[in-house]
Amino acid sequence: MVCLGNICRSPMAEGILRDKAIERGIRLTIDSAGTNRFHTGEAPDHRAVAKMKEHGHDITDLRARTIEPEDFGKFDRIYVMDASNMQNVLRVPHKPAHSSKVRMFLNEFQPNGNQAVPDPYYGGDDGFEDVYQLLDKACDAFLNSLNDES
Ligand code: 4NP
Repeated sequence: MVCLGNICRSPMAEGILRDKAIERGIRLTIDSAGTNRFHTGEAPDHRAVAKMKEHGHDITDLRARTIEPEDFGKFDRIYVMDASNMQNVLRVPHKPAHSSKVRMFLNEFQPNGNQAVPDPYYGGDDGFEDVYQLLDKACDAFLNSLNDES
């Protein structure tokens, strides 16, 4: 799960997906990262932590990091939150064959919609609820698609 700072959207996505995967008994390696280094080593934004807590998820253990070339080999999918994240991720050195791993996360429930998870950082609390609802739907759609494949 990748966003810009790795303190709002992508740690929320990581936290929702890891809890849902456990609930469904699906073993996945899930991580998140940012495309910039501004917040490296920091815990998620307090508004993201509070919103997640409100919905029953604890993400206080997560710490921000920056995406690195090795991630392209380690993971089968690299989900980005918006088109700008997509551009930035594709600038990280990787094998050409791995470019197709990079996908817009909301395309999981709206294929080819290319809808963004809006950056909530400079907005109010409503933004975090919107982000939560979008991520919740996309996580369910992603997990359902794994069931379809098996
Ligand atoms: P995120 O949100 O990409 O969802 O983690 C942001 C966090 C920090 C900044 C921008 C967006 N920032 O400019 O510091």
